[in-house]
Formats: sequence, structure tokens, C-alpha cells
Amino acid sequence: MIVAAGKGERAGGGMPKQFRSIAGKPLVAHAYDRLAAHPRIDAVLVVGDEGPLRAALGERAPLGIVPGGASRRLSVRAGLDAIETLGGADVVLIHDAARPFTPAAVIDRLLTALEASPGAVPALPVADTLARHGATLGDVVDRDALVRVQTPQAFRFGDIMTSHRAWQGDDEPTDDAQMVRAAGFAVAAVAGDAMLEKITRPEDFAAAEARLGQRSFRT
Ligand code: CTP
Ligand code: MG
Repeated sequence: MIVAAGKGERAGGGMPKQFRSIAGKPLVAHAYDRLAAHPRIDAVLVVGDEGPLRAALGERAPLGIVPGGASRRLSVRAGLDAIETLGGADVVLIHDAARPFTPAAVIDRLLTALEASPGAVPALPVADTLARHGATLGDVVDRDALVRVQTPQAFRFGDIMTSHRAWQGDDEPTDDAQMVRAAGFAVAAVAGDAMLEKITRPEDFAAAEARLGQRSFRT
């Protein structure tokens, strides 16, 4: 499932970032192609506005396009409900349209980890010094104890449905792994990839374009 129902407010640019193009292809179409090309992914569902998504996806044939919700959590929930209505799945990967270049090797690692765990996420170490910050700089936080969590995130379908239904947090979660953990399921972390950096701000488009130029997806 690709969630593409956000407004992209931080990225600016006159239209939601998932519809903006890199190398002549909208981000959501890049994201779609990387998932659809993987031999172990049977179908891709996209969450968001149907008209712009059909235009961005062209000839591609998603399992479905369903309207999103007011938060990422509710957009994912809409997609999960649609998959359940369509007969369910063994495993679902939940992915941000704002991370257009998923390497196949990351999907392989996630699916392998899922054999022993209800959930799996790609994660990268933190390179910068991290510190608390108030009026002035505060204490340094141990970065070796922290990771940066990316998508796609892989879950056993029944467990992610249970977790979404059980969610009672006050704040809106920024990903699904935190809901699955809150429901009591273990989530494994596998090696993430710099290609999966999220496009969030205006300058991230140029960086993503450079990353695409550096790595070929033909293999
Ligand atoms: N998303 C969604 N539905 C929402 C909010 C977000 O499907 N109500 C999706 C976005 O389209 C994006 C992913 O969740 O692919 C990650 O969210 P984020 O990077 O925050 O995107 P936006 O919410 O669109 O951007 P912003 O927060 O800057 O407005
Ligand atoms: Mg957002």
C-alpha cells in the first residue's frame, strides 16, 4: 500500500509533493514502480485522490485507489479496510509516496525478517550529534541508542489490522510500527537505505534527483 493522501505542506511547490516529478515521472509513480517490480509483491493499492492519482499513474493498474483521511494513520486505515474488503492479504507493506526509490534488497530484508516477527521496518543509524534543545543547547543524547525509521514497513496483515483497531494514542503516529508496538507486537529493524530518505522540504527534491542519478535500478 502506498499512502499518497497528504497535502505536502512543508514541501511547497504548488501541488502535493507526490504528484511532482523527478526525471519526468511523478513521485507516486516512482514509488508504485519500485513496489510493483518486486517479484514477491502481488498487488499495489494506492490511497489518495482518485483523479490526480489516475493521471499520475497513467497505464499502471493498481489493485485499487481509495480516498485518504485527515491523518496518515487514517489514510493507512482506509487502505487496510479496502484490502480487507478485497479479501485480505498475508502480508502488507505500508509505504510513503514521499519515498520514491525503494531498493528491492530492502523489501527482501523486510520479508525475511517477517518470517520471525509480526512487523519489520528499515532503519538507519544517526550520524550527527544529537542534543536536547530549549532556550539554549541542552544535553547530548546517546545516538548509538537511536535509529531513523523509514518505510516501507512490513506487517502480517492480521496484526496490523488488530493494531490499527486498538490504537488509542493521543498524538497522531507518524508511522505504523509504533501502533504495532503499542498493541504488543514485536517489530524487527533491518538495514534501511539512503535511497529511502523522505522528501519533506523543497530542497529534498534536488537531493532525491541526485540520488536517483547515482544508483541504477536496472539490476
Ligand atoms: N499522508 C497521507 N494522508 C495524510 C497525511 C499524509 O496519505 N492525511 C501520506 C503522505 O502523502 C506521504 C506520507 O503520508 O506520502 C508521509 O507523510 P508526510 O511526509 O508528512 O507528507 P504530507 O503530510 O503530505 O506533508 P506535510 O506534513 O509537509 O504536509
Ligand atoms: Mg504530514
